Amino acid sequence: MTQKITVMLGDGIGPEISDAVMRILEGAHADVAFECFSVGAKEYERTNALIPEAAYASFERNRVLLKAPITTPIGKGFRSLNVTLRKRYDLYANIRPAKANAALKTPFPHVDIVTFRENTEDLYAGVEHQIDADTVHAIKIITRSASQRIIEAAFAYARAHQRKKVTCVHKANIMKLCDGMFLDIFYEVAKQYPDIIAEDKIIDALCMRLVMNPAEFDVLVMENLYGDIVSDLTSGLIGGLGLLPSANLGDEYAMFEAVHGSAPDIAGKHIANPTALLWSACMMLEYIGQSDCAKRIHRAVDQVLQEGITLTPDLHGSAHTEEYRDAILAKLL
Ligand code: NAI
Repeated sequence: MTQKITVMLGDGIGPEISDAVMRILEGAHADVAFECFSVGAKEYERTNALIPEAAYASFERNRVLLKAPITTPIGKGFRSLNVTLRKRYDLYANIRPAKANAALKTPFPHVDIVTFRENTEDLYAGVEHQIDADTVHAIKIITRSASQRIIEAAFAYARAHQRKKVTCVHKANIMKLCDGMFLDIFYEVAKQYPDIIAEDKIIDALCMRLVMNPAEFDVLVMENLYGDIVSDLTSGLIGGLGLLPSANLGDEYAMFEAVHGSAPDIAGKHIANPTALLWSACMMLEYIGQSDCAKRIHRAVDQVLQEGITLTPDLHGSAHTEEYRDAILAKLL
């Protein structure tokens, strides 16, 4: 049966890249039907609601969401919609695969790292209190259950995808209680996976190793805020934010989105790279059992990247989003 997909079109470059992605999925004959909704800052200005009730209802029916990036005001205004969605639907596992593409020349041709980021708690949950005019508290909450399930998800993924090693990333030398507990749970869970190497790295040392020898890393698992930062670093290793997809999985719902934001600096210029959202859509196709279609799209993108003629400016080309989209569509014919 055709899978219905809820699509949130987002802010900034969101509408441009989600249009390109939906057209490519149609061109690849994905067996999906889109239910599209305008969400985010513009929708808020218009209706005072960030996400229309109809969009929530659609996601609750379909259980699968393809989401374009949404602008979050800095320092004031509404709470991040991304955080809201992840919490509301308990999308606890944020999976961010960064794989070097042979067609794109970077200093690191052998990167193949999958980051598992806990997605529901930590400082990232934004629990802050104004104590007085000059003092603010931000509370880092780490629970055993949330830590356990993200670590289990990372090991289960490693085993299912024939990965060799899982690295726990932490700062337990300073955050002795919360990161210490995360680390203890990591080694407890690791006992059930004797076929997979388990190691840990302090986050600062990990960052240094990542930019010196990223090929030594395989699957990484970490708390929310560390995952937010480290995964942008891994996108830099493979050629930039336009190339890093993600899945946000819970036990009942799944949301797929690019790691990058709404890129207001290039919004409306039709030069955004839709690849990260497209590869997120490919993760979605795999999730709904349409892996062959995902493979066809990956092959078409690889051919376009390999030719190097129709690339967006972030990949040192001069093509518009629509020209890049059409080049991929031509390979799917
Ligand atoms: P950003 O990721 O939007 O942009 C950072 C830089 O990367 C910019 O120079 C931008 O032009 C470039 N870039 C990003 N995506 C690109 C693409 N597909 N093609 C070509 N270039 C691309 O980060 P920034 O500027 O810090 O955030 C902008 C807004 O996005 C903020 O309101 C932020 O809160 C929000 N945001 C939303 C996310 C989401 O909806 N999942 C994730 C990250 C940020």
